[in-house]
Formats: sequence, C-alpha cells, structure tokens
Amino acid sequence: MGPLRIGIVGTGAMAAALGAAWARAGHTLLVGGRSPAKAEALAARLGPGARPGTPSQALLFGDAALLAVDHGAVAGLLDDAGAASGALRGRVLIDCTNAVGPGFLLTTGEGPGAARTIAAATGARVVKAFNHSAASVWALDPPVFADGPLAVPLCGDDEAALALVRTLVRDLGCIPLDAGGLDRADQLEAMTAFLIGLWHTGQDPRPMLPPFAAVAGTDRSGLREA
Ligand SMILES: NC(=O)c1ccc[n+]([C@@H]2O[C@H](COP(=O)([O-])OP(=O)(O)OC[C@H]3O[C@@H](n4cnc5c(N)ncnc54)[C@H](OP(=O)(O)O)[C@@H]3O)[C@@H](O)[C@H]2O)c1
Repeated sequence: MGPLRIGIVGTGAMAAALGAAWARAGHTLLVGGRSPAKAEALAARLGPGARPGTPSQALLFGDAALLAVDHGAVAGLLDDAGAASGALRGRVLIDCTNAVGPGFLLTTGEGPGAARTIAAATGARVVKAFNHSAASVWALDPPVFADGPLAVPLCGDDEAALALVRTLVRDLGCIPLDAGGLDRADQLEAMTAFLIGLWHTGQDPRPMLPPFAAVAGTDRSGLREA
C-alpha cells in the first residue's frame, strides 16, 4: 500500500502522536480541529505533508479518517459532516475513542459501544483501533519494548478497511492483531476501560497476562501477526 491520505479529527494528544508517526511514514494528512489555531499549529508540527482544516473536512478527506476527539463530541461532528444524509457511508473511519466515565465505567453502558454507534450513525466502514494504549505510548518512535513491538488489536467488519489500518499500525512500528468483527469492539472498549482503571490506580496490568505458550500448552510463543 503506497502513501495514504488520512484525515485526523482532533488536535490533542492522540492526534499529535498518531499524526507524527503517519507523517514520518509519508502519508498526507488533513488535521481537522474546531480551533483553527490548534489545527494550524499541529499541521505545522507534522510537517509539509500535513495541512489544517475543519473536523468535517478531515472526516471526508482521503482514504480514511481517525476520530481522535472526546467521545461526547463524536455524534455532533458526524452530524456536521452530513452523516444523516449518507455523506460518510462507506468511508473508512478509525475510532480510537474511549467512552470512559466516573469509576472507569463505560458511559455507553449496556448499549452498543462507541465504534458500533459510529457505524450505525454513518454506514461507514469502522475499525476500532489505537484506543487500548496511552498517547504517550503512541508517541514513542517506535513503541517497541523488551519483549517486542506493541500489538494493536483491531476490530472491524470490512477486510479492505482492516488492511488499510494494519498498514497504519505497521507504520508505527507495531504489530496488528486481528481481534474480530465490529461486534467485538465493545469488548475492546470494555477491556480498555478496565486497563485504564488499573493504570490510574498505579497498578501494572502486564503481569496479569500469562505467556501465550503457557495458555496454549504448546511451544508457540509471542503474538501471531495479522
Ligand atoms: N490520551 C490518551 O492516552 C488516549 C489513549 C487512547 C484513546 N484516547 C481517546 O482518544 C480521544 C482523544 O483523546 P486525546 O487524549 O487526544 O484528548 P485531548 O488531548 O484532550 O484532545 C481532545 C480533542 O478533542 C477535541 N474536542 C473536544 N470536544 C470537541 C467538540 N465538541 N468538537 C470538536 N472537537 C472537540 C479537542 O478540541 P479543543 O482542543 O478545541 O478542545 C481536542 O482536539 C478520546 O476519545 C480519548 O478517550 C486517548
């Protein structure tokens, strides 16, 4: 897959971290912020391959768009971009949002999670990705640790959309991990809320995961690359 054109909705920590990696990889970026000044500043930081715009322009730009804003802002931004009239139908939308509220509980409750709600509102090809780890980790160049590159779980229903996001994962120096269809994005969102709860209370969840070989009862170890 050659250079891509990616819209980035948001100008905060996630937009900056992922945008920097994708700019380094040679992709063309449109940074959409509600604050023109913040969009201009981030686009300037990302370099000549990035230009500023509005959230709607980013949602409609190029091959795919990353939603990197507060969960509560998403529905309004989709509306503004014409979701109700089908403007986002078939687009590849990458959802990294976490709808985590007080007590580290999901504000989406028992209902469909963030990614499935975005898919229902737009008819877009939504891939849940990049939500499970902190912006400070995505900002590492690359996020590779003693036992190897960070694995990035992806949930989505469309193979072409998943292939595109796998490319963006590898551009970060990470390993894509196929984690099922969009119906499993709720699990990824809940898992992340659980992890955030541990991290924010100063507890490291890493030792909670046994080596794969121990679970499988075989010699195989490590993560299977998608
Ligand atoms: N930070 C992390 O470690 C992390 C990790 C994984 C996933 N996430 C998720 O990624 C998303 C972005 O997080 P972040 O850390 O990048 O947040 P952030 O640094 O606080 O940035 C939030 C962005 O959302 C924009 N925004 C908020 N309300 C808006 C609205 N009503 N309309 C338009 N834009 C709006 C902000 O614009 P203004 O600057 O103008 O307010 C800003 O650009 C969140 O859903 C978060 O849960 C975060």
